[in-house]
Amino acid sequence: MATILGIESSCDETAVALVTTERAIIAQRIASQIEEHAPYGGVVPEIAARAHAEKLAPMIADVMAEADLGLADIDAIAATAGPGLIGGVMVGLVSGKALAMAADKPLIAINHLEGHALSPRLADETLQFPYALLLVSGGHCQILQVDGVGQYRRLATTIDDALGEAFDKSAKILGLGYPGGPALEKLALSGDAKAVPLPRPLLGSKEPHFSFAGLKSAVVRAKDSGNYADADIAASFQQAAIDCLLDRLTVSLGNTAPLPALVVAGGVAANTAIRTALEGFASARDMRFTAPPMALCTDNAAMIAWAGAERFGSGQSDPLDVSARPRWPL
Ligand code: KG4
Ligand code: ZN
Repeated sequence: MATILGIESSCDETAVALVTTERAIIAQRIASQIEEHAPYGGVVPEIAARAHAEKLAPMIADVMAEADLGLADIDAIAATAGPGLIGGVMVGLVSGKALAMAADKPLIAINHLEGHALSPRLADETLQFPYALLLVSGGHCQILQVDGVGQYRRLATTIDDALGEAFDKSAKILGLGYPGGPALEKLALSGDAKAVPLPRPLLGSKEPHFSFAGLKSAVVRAKDSGNYADADIAASFQQAAIDCLLDRLTVSLGNTAPLPALVVAGGVAANTAIRTALEGFASARDMRFTAPPMALCTDNAAMIAWAGAERFGSGQSDPLDVSARPRWPL
């Protein structure tokens, strides 16, 4: 058994975790920067980088103390090396490099998307490769075929906004603040999903793409019209998003050999209505459905440590001069 220290700092969560190759999360910390960014209605990159620089080192010390472990007890350091806001990524990656050097242990540079992609295997030891992955977060919206560690085939991606971004922008239009996804989901519970006629961009298209910009614009028009209750707009938006997801999944999965399981990951996977719809979609196709627990869906370091554990298990590591990458497709 090996113990991996994971560091995540690519967006607005500073996170540290200790995870073993046997799937135990020994200790973890997540510090959200929501309060720092809320006045601006979105993540401000420099504020994010500064907050990571302040919070990360004490959080690493806390996690090590809670686990009662010293650097010598760690087998490898896994740090997010991208994609994300470059200032924050550099804070985490350079901290990881310094620790790897001090402890004389391997550094594993993790693609944040790979962290999300492999996170379901941390929670569910029975989940084997290959599987279809719907990765839906604030920055990404993709369908991937996951064949193994480091073996990803992109089946679909967005041509404009990510789904989490569409949730956040629509929530902002409805005055729900930042980050809007969870607040919009809550408001939708008391709304009528059929009340507002909203478009389903690309519905029926044979091209395996997502598009959400038009849906967001329609939310602006619905709100400006004054004809609809906010809860009805929220519920109708969420239903339109679900319809798009299922349609795009149908097209994408039709382009590949049948896969035994459908997995959802990323922040938007915390949405219960979306999970329920995906579960129905999978069961109608005899696919197994799995979603990580909510805490593993939004950004966290346990998924980074776990991706490190998967790579460490196959003998991989990275040189100390590995670059931070603001853009890094899987
Ligand atoms: O994975 P994540 O924490 O960060 C990125 O890598 O982007 O995802 C954050 C995104 C935000 O857009 C947030 O609004 C969305 O996930 N989100 C949700 C829910 N919880 C978080 N969207 C819809 N419903 C939710 N319950
Ligand atoms: Zn993420």
